[in-house]
Amino acid sequence: MSIKELDLISFRNHNHLQLTFGKGINVIWGENGSGKTAILEAIHTLSIGRSFRTSRFRDLLKDGKDFFRVTGVFVHDKEEQNVQVNQTKDGRRRILVNGVPISGLKELIGKNPVVLLSPEEQEITKGNPSVRRAFFDRLFSVVSQPFLQALSEYTRTLKQRNAALCLVRDNKADVNSVKAWDDLLVDNGVKVWSQREHLFSQFADHLQQTVVDYAESGVVVVCLHEKTQHTNPDQFRKALADNLNQDVYLGRTTVGPHRDNYKIVFQDRDLRLFGSQGEHKLTLVLLKLAEFRLIHKRTGILPILLLDDLFAKLDYRRSENVLSLIEKDVQTIVTTTDLVPIEQHNINLKQNGNSSIYLERPCRA
Ligand SMILES: Nc1ncnc2c1ncn2[C@@H]1O[C@H](COP(=O)(O)OP(=O)(O)O)[C@@H](O)[C@H]1O
Ligand SMILES: [Mg+2]
Repeated sequence: MSIKELDLISFRNHNHLQLTFGKGINVIWGENGSGKTAILEAIHTLSIGRSFRTSRFRDLLKDGKDFFRVTGVFVHDKEEQNVQVNQTKDGRRRILVNGVPISGLKELIGKNPVVLLSPEEQEITKGNPSVRRAFFDRLFSVVSQPFLQALSEYTRTLKQRNAALCLVRDNKADVNSVKAWDDLLVDNGVKVWSQREHLFSQFADHLQQTVVDYAESGVVVVCLHEKTQHTNPDQFRKALADNLNQDVYLGRTTVGPHRDNYKIVFQDRDLRLFGSQGEHKLTLVLLKLAEFRLIHKRTGILPILLLDDLFAKLDYRRSENVLSLIEKDVQTIVTTTDLVPIEQHNINLKQNGNSSIYLERPCRA
């Protein structure tokens, strides 16, 4: 699949920007601060309803403006889909698909998948467990509606249980108001665990294959899913009961699928604790390639590849590895501050389907 047109109004530093993309490799180049990453952010927002740099929609709104609008035209085979995200300054948000407002993100997520490789994403290997959890939850949501459904119901119940815990802690309610959520929490939690286990094992297979295909020989990278504990209904219910006092004290639920951990092991050592910069970068590329393959395998759609600052962050050989993934039919949008690395990698921007877009840094009047 591909994105054909993109139109930004009052998004980040862009006043009004209209872009047309080819089906092959599209290079967006310009100085730092010209708004290259913002363009990838806009495409990401059209794909899954959120940015990768912020969870606050307000940050995306151009300073001093009242609303932003991002519109994209995606193409699958020959069919076009128009997606538009509107956001006002006072927090109202509307997403339209082919002109029709959607009722929830589940109508958007998974339809126009993208895979993003950006400096921000390095946190997946370096950051705390919540970053890896968010990575897998987002990926699994893209490839499985049942997972998305289970996760959103679980998350909703968890919020309600946590709110009840806070009320009990502040002596504004009794513990039965917490226990009232447990059945639903257990139900949804067990669903999340079982879906996650299944999807994770598929991911792990793709990762293993990706390591064989792309990493230097002898490199072993594995990702492990460490479930908190007690993933059957009775055990989970008991764990909730056992932790009730502590949970009241903390005002949050301390057991459940929202506490699962993913550990990445590079050559037998915990990457997060022992990995070198190069090992982190290589692992991120491998995770992203495995993500690409899982999405393709499960949805039948070739995602759009978004490569932010690829050449600034990866050496020649590693970026060549990433570029070697780009087969025919994979649309790629890559940002860079200059075109020299593009030539070094023998990418012909004049070739049919490829394009280059130069961004002028807006003057700050
Ligand atoms: N909400 C906003 N309103 C106006 N300008 C913004 C907003 N958010 C970010 N910017 C500015 O947009 C510019 C472009 O950022 P970015 O997309 O990261 O550029 P690049 O990737 O080309 O370096 C930055 O100078 C940043 O300060
Ligand atoms: Mg940037």
